Amino acid sequence: MQIKEAAKLLNTTPKTLRFYEEKGLIAPSKDDANQYRYFSESDLYRVSTILALREIGVPVKEIKVLLEKQSMSIKQYLDIQRSALYEQWIEMRDMILTIDQMVEQVEPNLHSQEVLHQLANHLKSIKEVRRKWRDRWDFDGQATDYDENIKKGGFRFNVHEGYDEALVMVEKMVQLQPEEVCVDIGIGTGNLGSRFLQTGVKVIGVDQSEKMLTKCQEKHPSIETRKGHFLALPLLDGSVDAIVSSYALHHLTDQEKLHAFEEMLRVLKPGGQLCIADLMFENQAHRERVMRDLKKSGNEIAVAAIEDEYYGDKSILVTWLRNKGLPVEMLQFNDILGLIYTKKTYE
Ligand SMILES: C[S@@+](CC[C@H](N)C(=O)[O-])C[C@H]1O[C@@H](n2cnc3c(N)ncnc32)[C@H](O)[C@@H]1O
Repeated sequence: MQIKEAAKLLNTTPKTLRFYEEKGLIAPSKDDANQYRYFSESDLYRVSTILALREIGVPVKEIKVLLEKQSMSIKQYLDIQRSALYEQWIEMRDMILTIDQMVEQVEPNLHSQEVLHQLANHLKSIKEVRRKWRDRWDFDGQATDYDENIKKGGFRFNVHEGYDEALVMVEKMVQLQPEEVCVDIGIGTGNLGSRFLQTGVKVIGVDQSEKMLTKCQEKHPSIETRKGHFLALPLLDGSVDAIVSSYALHHLTDQEKLHAFEEMLRVLKPGGQLCIADLMFENQAHRERVMRDLKKSGNEIAVAAIEDEYYGDKSILVTWLRNKGLPVEMLQFNDILGLIYTKKTYE
């Protein structure tokens, strides 16, 4: 097919196609006699991919690298792009909401300067919380052996004691109908999310680690995986029926956990369920008692392991949810493993 025809078919212009050729993105064959370009099936497919990527804002230079690079599939690349765009969108949304509040306050309020300052500071702190989080534990590096490692008891401290029991309990508490959407955040290799597949539920696994997501896909091809973060979920508002999570939230500080709760409530539909099984203490007094006992018995391994992460304070999380008027059920499996279940009861 010649250039005019190809451009028409792909809803673009011959000029655009010549530009992509000039940039080395495509190389249609040329007729020796008249130098007319000839677009084969595979050229057309390549151009339509380029056009689609341009449409979602990927720069020409990056498209070139992507098409040449074998190590990353277009699907993986799109997933990373989507996650980045969601982060930008969530940030823009926060800015618009802050402007709305500022506009509301600026006229009637005599102390509007002060209020504007407070709103701006609040916005700044949310942005900082999102930007600051780092994977200090190298989950990409843990992905290959993760399932084997969790079976090992651990020397003097078994962080996975009660793990299976907790996953069973989450599955039992979250009631879903076939076709409903359940998101597992920090899905890792899919051990919790996959439990919901048997009932025909659509499972989406979100994780910040690409290697964990690849592993999850290999084990459970019917789980849709999305790169994303507790603090910027790659999901639209009010779009999911349930959120579950196991052994993931304790990689966020208590302040970050509350932002994560806000974010999870954003994406839940009204009536949606949230169930988290994670490393957490009942409250500060419980933490102090457990730590004191561990130190007394000389279990420095356990003390170091707990201090390396952010085991939750269940009372803070539950109080926050209850202050929002949400009903909460909770359980404690052992000294370090707990569960929180709630429902988004508002629109
Ligand atoms: C200990 S693994 C647990 C995996 C799985 N949920 C399970 O129960 O076996 C923690 C997982 O949470 C993910 N994770 C940690 N912090 C996260 C964050 N802020 N946002 C998204 N995922 C996160 C990690 O990448 C990792 O895959």
